[in-house]
Amino acid sequence: MSLLQFDNPSVQGEIKVPGDKSISHRSIMFGAISEGVTRVTGFLKGDDCLSTIDCFRKMGVTITEKDDEILIEGKGFKGLKEPEEILDTGNSGTTTRLLLGILAGQPFHSVITGDESIAKRPMNRVTVPLREMGAFIDGRDNGNLTPLAVRGGELKSFHYTLPVASAQLKSALILAGLQSDEETVIVEPEKTRDHTEKMIRHFGGHITREGSTIRITGNQPFKAKDVHVPGDISSAAFFLTAAAITADSSLKLKNVGLNETRTGILDVLKEMNTDFEVTSTSQDEEPQGDILIRSSSLTSCEIGGELIPRLIDEIPIIALLATQAQGKTVIKDAEELKVKETNRIDAVVEELKKLGADITATDDGMIINGPVKLKGGHADSRGDHRIGMMLAVASLVTTGPVQIDGAECISVSYPDFFKDLSKVTSR
Ligand code: S3P
Repeated sequence: MSLLQFDNPSVQGEIKVPGDKSISHRSIMFGAISEGVTRVTGFLKGDDCLSTIDCFRKMGVTITEKDDEILIEGKGFKGLKEPEEILDTGNSGTTTRLLLGILAGQPFHSVITGDESIAKRPMNRVTVPLREMGAFIDGRDNGNLTPLAVRGGELKSFHYTLPVASAQLKSALILAGLQSDEETVIVEPEKTRDHTEKMIRHFGGHITREGSTIRITGNQPFKAKDVHVPGDISSAAFFLTAAAITADSSLKLKNVGLNETRTGILDVLKEMNTDFEVTSTSQDEEPQGDILIRSSSLTSCEIGGELIPRLIDEIPIIALLATQAQGKTVIKDAEELKVKETNRIDAVVEELKKLGADITATDDGMIINGPVKLKGGHADSRGDHRIGMMLAVASLVTTGPVQIDGAECISVSYPDFFKDLSKVTSR
């Protein structure tokens, strides 16, 4: 439980948000399936990424922490060992789904399980195509729900159009395809984050994309290569919002990842008339930059279509932003929110309503009318880190204190969130 109260705060100074969660997971996975030692800097030591480390250690990969580095002694795809224990993915959907793709090509038995949120999340989007490729996977609800047992097989040539725009699903099939003797072809309905594709190239592999069609050749060797993880734009979004909605604020966020498949939040901030500037600091395959943002007079906007996968994790905090914007904000085409760590349509709408927001759930999103002076209240993270952080940022603009139950889940993606919040709000 956390009780937050601020008296007309402004948000000032500079912070460096933690490492990108999606890239941190993939750095461990690609480090493990490469030959040689990979050194990772900027790694996110949040609970989700620590679950990924734990699963690979259980498959015989030596992973050590040295100062601010993670060292992975890669074994190659063929060097992973049958785990003696259950692979526990905790709260992490990315670990669960991407690991299923790796395990699908491994000639051994393994069992994957996670926490109570993972136990409710649909895995058939991954297990059905992986079975078609040749893996044996079984679990509750006919292989849809964890715990899942996997015995990897020889994987066949596969051509598949994804039924949902999901980077986790795409990445699972890519990781399986890399272990096949033949070509795998994947068609995406909408472009999703491409960190897996970039990692493949970074580790010396080959993958092509033409329009929405991705082609992967199997049995490619990967060579260890150091990875630097940029700051997570999904974590930055909470502080971008904090500065935008409070008076007299000016905040610099350092070295934020600016991969264009992730920067939908910046498009929305622009559309909402927010006062911010981006300065590029690196043009690597995963570009980075500093973002300077100030208090803003916000206006509403419409969010849907191909923008959704580029900001899917930012929708809870965008909903809060919209409560402070002039006009009606409509978020649509976002049904995927229903199968995140919680049902994020219900969670955002019900928790923000407790604080006095004018917000209504729709079948595929929500409608928010603003600006509304929010009040204090008793809210619940529902075990979802992004709902917890959204509520904490909301407390900056409420008239009374906000009590947040279950705020400890924020350590999934941002272990120092409250430290950073207090740093930028205290003078
Ligand atoms: C992720 C992809 C997204 C996102 C999740 C991380 C990834 O999910 O919501 O937090 O690292 O691939 P989708 O599978 O819905 O794209």
